[in-house]
Amino acid sequence: MLTVTDLAKRHRRARRPLFSALDFSVAAGEIVALVGESGVGKSTLLNCIAGLETADSGSIAIGPQALDIVRLDESARAALRARSIGFVFQAFHVLPTLTVAQNIGVPLLLCGIPTSEHPARTQALLDGVGLAGFGPRWPASLSGGELQRVAIARALVHRPALILADEPTGNLDPRTADEVLALLLERVREQQTSALVVTHSQHVAQCCDRTLTLTPDGLR
Ligand SMILES: Nc1ncnc2c1ncn2[C@@H]1O[C@H](COP(=O)(O)OP(=O)(O)OP(=O)(O)O)[C@@H](O)[C@H]1O
Ligand SMILES: [Mg+2]
Repeated sequence: MLTVTDLAKRHRRARRPLFSALDFSVAAGEIVALVGESGVGKSTLLNCIAGLETADSGSIAIGPQALDIVRLDESARAALRARSIGFVFQAFHVLPTLTVAQNIGVPLLLCGIPTSEHPARTQALLDGVGLAGFGPRWPASLSGGELQRVAIARALVHRPALILADEPTGNLDPRTADEVLALLLERVREQQTSALVVTHSQHVAQCCDRTLTLTPDGLR
């Protein structure tokens, strides 16, 4: 579902590459934890996979058609991202001027799914993350844990091939973090989606199928 080959990235003006010669893959339905020290490049790697930052060389094959996001132009990259990737950010990135239900529906709009299907799809996800009845509410009235559950519902609603989660529970207290994470993994397993989850929590990593450690010398 995701195959990264010989990937390298150096930030502009940085003296040495952040990473180079990275090789790994995530199988269909597999959930992989990505750990490593702060600043080692985990978020940069995730952003490269999502096509939000550009890698310098190597390839990143995504989805059943194994399209290489490194080689696509901007519009093809955006289309692949909209169709095949669900992204859960640490800071939620829930849009404040849309209701909870509208936020969850954004990927359906981006994928061109008929609007007649949106209410049922959105409702199913709201129920799935324990937020039945929250659809008409504004994000400002939700707690951090509730907002992160909205972000998880939004990442899954279009049934992407790949979920990328960058410290999805980093902003939550430990108990809420555990609950939200369990929910993310449950939904991901249910949808048979592949996932790469960046985390600093050993507990989170243990809940995944496998752990990759990013170090300054590469992946372990
Ligand atoms: N646009 C940029 N230009 C220059 N340097 C950058 C840029 N973005 C990130 N960096 C640097 O690249 C390194 C890796 O950053 P990144 O955010 O990928 O680390 P991380 O592993 O996600 O860390 P954390 O666990 O703290 O989130 C850091 O030293 C950071 O300062
Ligand atoms: Mg990071």
